[in-house]
Amino acid sequence: MIPFNKATITDLEERYVIDAMRNSKLSGDGKYTMRVYEQIRERFGIKDILLTTSGTTALEMSAILINLDPGDEVIVPSFTFSSTVNAFLLRRAKPVFCDIRPDTFNMDENLIESLITPNTKAIYCVDYAGIPCDMDVINAIADKHGLFVIEDAAQAIGSKYKGRWAGTLSEFGCFSFHETKNYVMGEGGAIVLNEEKYLDRAEIIREKGTNRRQVLKGWTDKYTWHDIGSSFLPSDVLAAILSAQLDRYDEIMDKRMRVWNAYHEQLKPLEDRGDLRLAIVPDYAEHNGHMYNIVLPTDDIRTHLVDFLKERGIMAYICYVPLHSAPMGRRLGNKAEDCPVTEDLGNRVLRLPLYADMTEADTDKVIAAVNEFFR
Ligand SMILES: Cc1ncc(COP(=O)(O)O)c(C=O)c1O
Repeated sequence: MIPFNKATITDLEERYVIDAMRNSKLSGDGKYTMRVYEQIRERFGIKDILLTTSGTTALEMSAILINLDPGDEVIVPSFTFSSTVNAFLLRRAKPVFCDIRPDTFNMDENLIESLITPNTKAIYCVDYAGIPCDMDVINAIADKHGLFVIEDAAQAIGSKYKGRWAGTLSEFGCFSFHETKNYVMGEGGAIVLNEEKYLDRAEIIREKGTNRRQVLKGWTDKYTWHDIGSSFLPSDVLAAILSAQLDRYDEIMDKRMRVWNAYHEQLKPLEDRGDLRLAIVPDYAEHNGHMYNIVLPTDDIRTHLVDFLKERGIMAYICYVPLHSAPMGRRLGNKAEDCPVTEDLGNRVLRLPLYADMTEADTDKVIAAVNEFFR
């Protein structure tokens, strides 16, 4: 079976994990966590970043940091993972779903202003498939209306918007290092604090509301309860996996790009014939090869293609069920027709297998199977 995703693990990851365990520092903020911060600082110029137990909890931390109150409204795309919305729903804020752009599947920045009310407090935007949103436009709207912007860059580490790294494009960036992402630690994530003023409180929130990190830094000799918070700090053993992955940053990126480019080039004749639509990357963006999506003419054709590929040992994935029309979205009072582009594309998009260790033979097999289907 060709899976839709598989993490790439080598002797290096194993060596670092064993070393982390032998250091007897199994909890957070040990040697490998610090090494990851250094690697991220060197590569992306990111100064203030905190590893978290998941991309989900990085998003939850952002919702605490911006002091959302019950009834505050948050503008968010519906074409995303549940975590983007749960993060602020847990604070009792209300999602206001924004439809997507047909090219990138990202929030349509031209619709945002029409959704703003006196209760709007934040915009959570999502860099779907590792393609950044049009952040200059989104940030300008947010500045005009005094809103926070949180960039859900769970899928976008290593991508760029107008030459700037994804995750650094607004007040907060949230990464995921889940095993399905480009660089993994099993379960894990990070919050990027692009304004220094949030760092102290973020450290406290991540440590169950205590100032324990200040003790580790030698600023004080006793720690105590200062704020709300939770257990958002990942084990150093997991950070060891991520540190090895970041040592292999270029290798992993190159291998993923090779698969992405093969799909993009070799499926082009099918697009030219009108059988499907290929991925679209806007001129402002450089992507990280996170996933390759095709769009089929109808959801029926998508269903048949999924079955056809499965019969040939290939797992293709139907991406997200739009949140606004999912059972929870409906319970919150949303209707399918609220986001027509999301509803339409959500039914027709298909994610092809893509991972760093995918062989050329397997990539060719997927391309051949898609061709055979349309024949
Ligand atoms: C857009 C988006 N946001 C948030 C998450 C949550 O990340 P994690 O699985 O690390 O909690 C994901 C993960 O799939 C995601 O794709």
